[in-house]
Amino acid sequence: MAEYEIRALSAEDRRRVRAILTERWTSPRIVNHGRIYRADELPGFVAVQHGEIWGLLTYAIEAGQCEVVSLDSLAEGQGIGMALLAAVEEPARAAGCRRVWLITTNDNLHALGFYQRRGLVLVEVRRGALDVSRKLKPSIPLVGMNGIPLRDEIELEKTL
Ligand SMILES: CC(C)(COP(=O)(O)OP(=O)(O)OC[C@H]1O[C@@H](n2cnc3c(N)ncnc32)[C@H](O)[C@@H]1OP(=O)(O)O)[C@@H](O)C(=O)NCCC(=O)NCCS
Repeated sequence: MAEYEIRALSAEDRRRVRAILTERWTSPRIVNHGRIYRADELPGFVAVQHGEIWGLLTYAIEAGQCEVVSLDSLAEGQGIGMALLAAVEEPARAAGCRRVWLITTNDNLHALGFYQRRGLVLVEVRRGALDVSRKLKPSIPLVGMNGIPLRDEIELEKTL
């Protein structure tokens, strides 16, 4: 992990951040729990190597809670995701948040394992929530990762 620097997102990163979010999620507009986030305008952290962004986390702090709105690693299995997830705890604690939480989807078996191995626990399954998300963002596919129909939101949290 030594070769990646984890630092807060800066204004100069925004154009690249928009491109990454568009490439990974079809748009910088991320829909979670019936709400549209302009993830490219949120605070976040990046993993950088030789001036290139290889990982991106965006978050929103509201009402004493810190939601991870997006997390992407462009070089998997090298510790970037873990480092970004750990980094967000600092602003969350500084803002007095009682938890870090996030939404993943039923198809994302890899993320479900990854988060639980990082100490997050399941809070709730919102069955059929993607029907609502698709009304807000029609580009969300019907079939997600692993060939699994993309249907449900799963909320996970880590208490701080
Ligand atoms: C989920 C995701 C963010 C994880 O990012 P990542 O950079 O691969 O995460 P890490 O490298 O920190 O950890 C991944 C695994 O590699 C392992 N690892 C980390 N550094 C390692 C190293 N140097 N050597 C070997 N293994 C290593 C970790 O222990 C972890 O294993 P585990 O999941 O079995 O516990 C990434 O897979 C991703 O971008 N997925 C697509 C987008 C997505 O689903 N985002 C989440 C939506 S909610």
